[in-house]
Amino acid sequence: MAIQIPRGTQDILPGTVEKWQYIEAKAKEICQLYNYKEIRTPIFESTELFQRGVGETTDVVQKEMYTFEDRGGRSLTLRPEGTASTVRSYVDNKMFGSPNQPTKLYYVGPMFRYERPQAGRFRQFVQFGVEALGSNDPSIDAEVIALAVELYKSLGLQKLKVVINSLGDKESRQAHREALIQHFQPHISEFCGDCQGRLEKNPLRILDCKKDRDHELMATAPSILEYLNEESKEYFDKVIAYLSALDINYEIDPNLVRGLDYYYHTAFEIMSTSEGFGAITTLCGGGRYNGLVQDIGGPETPGIGFALSIERLIAAMEAEKVDFPVEEAIDCYVVALGDAAKETAVKLLFDLRKAGIVAEKDYQDKKLKAQFKAADRLQAKYTIVFGEDELQKGVVSMKEMETGQQQEVALAEVVAFLSEKKSGER
Ligand code: HAM
Repeated sequence: MAIQIPRGTQDILPGTVEKWQYIEAKAKEICQLYNYKEIRTPIFESTELFQRGVGETTDVVQKEMYTFEDRGGRSLTLRPEGTASTVRSYVDNKMFGSPNQPTKLYYVGPMFRYERPQAGRFRQFVQFGVEALGSNDPSIDAEVIALAVELYKSLGLQKLKVVINSLGDKESRQAHREALIQHFQPHISEFCGDCQGRLEKNPLRILDCKKDRDHELMATAPSILEYLNEESKEYFDKVIAYLSALDINYEIDPNLVRGLDYYYHTAFEIMSTSEGFGAITTLCGGGRYNGLVQDIGGPETPGIGFALSIERLIAAMEAEKVDFPVEEAIDCYVVALGDAAKETAVKLLFDLRKAGIVAEKDYQDKKLKAQFKAADRLQAKYTIVFGEDELQKGVVSMKEMETGQQQEVALAEVVAFLSEKKSGER
């Protein structure tokens, strides 16, 4: 029996992979403009990193991690997200010591979560994320949100909604936590086992519960915004003022708590409002994580970032019917007839490619007609044909496929001829 691909994973084949490359190139381009530098961290890390970083009471840590023991008995986990790894590397490599602060980083890579697969939800998915470490300036909160919005817009998305909330500082969160415990405690037996466990450990997580989301106490739960102290309120107001200055529309949602434990102050998500987009509409999530660097063993350092998956981004582009400007056509197809011509063709292809011209030929001894068909399928802009006779004269027959126009070109001039045509297209 054939072996099947694991559930919740996908192959990205030629024809689709070009969409990914296009998006990744756009993401890199925008990071360059905003001065974020790429970081690449391992796919697996010590399990403890995520337990401490993402939080013991989160679904990600409790239910979704791919954890295994290596042959040396160490507990390792395939990374479920990129923030904890980035912060671990920031601490490990003492990036806080660099004179260039904040440290602005981005990553693109696969993440792994054992979730129930459905449209927009995979067990292996690719996140593009940015993290800015070392600044408590609310303008950087607005900057990372703007970066995400600009990326989506540059890719042609229009149906977007930015939702923002503040989770406050430690003091505000403590006051809110007590209010939540008081609110839920009398009826906690009506909630699922997970929520019962969360009541004392982390009652904020109850608000994020998928099973109990329709319980009437959810809608009446105390809102964090009512518990923000002056400092937190002021911080939130500044972030919002910057967003307005950047003309970024946003909605404030006091119930936005996010699924990971490290957030303080700003938390945000970007949704697709496109009709026909699946049930999962969140494209991007992020926020401020001021305690995380310390939790992972570094000096007290504020941080903020976001991550978005390319799978959901592509789904949103498809839902909005946005074009991917993907160039599939090749520049030329070389048809050589006879052994001597075939030998010359090998060298000609090498020279063409060296000059930056996308060139292809037959490798299966196809008949002349089949070779022309192949050139058509590859959308070759030019087809070059030559046999023994042409070779002796030192020429080839050059056919422009779109117009059908045919002309003789000196073999020695083919590279220069096609180079000129190609630069004329640019
Ligand atoms: P997150 O909300 O868990 O946050 O994930 C961020 C994004 O990753 C989601 O909005 C979604 O686009 C994508 N995503 C998550 N799970 C899946 C899945 N199973 N299949 C497809 N896409 C998925 C984080 O991961 C934080 N590290 C974000 C962050 C960075 N916060 C601060 N800095």
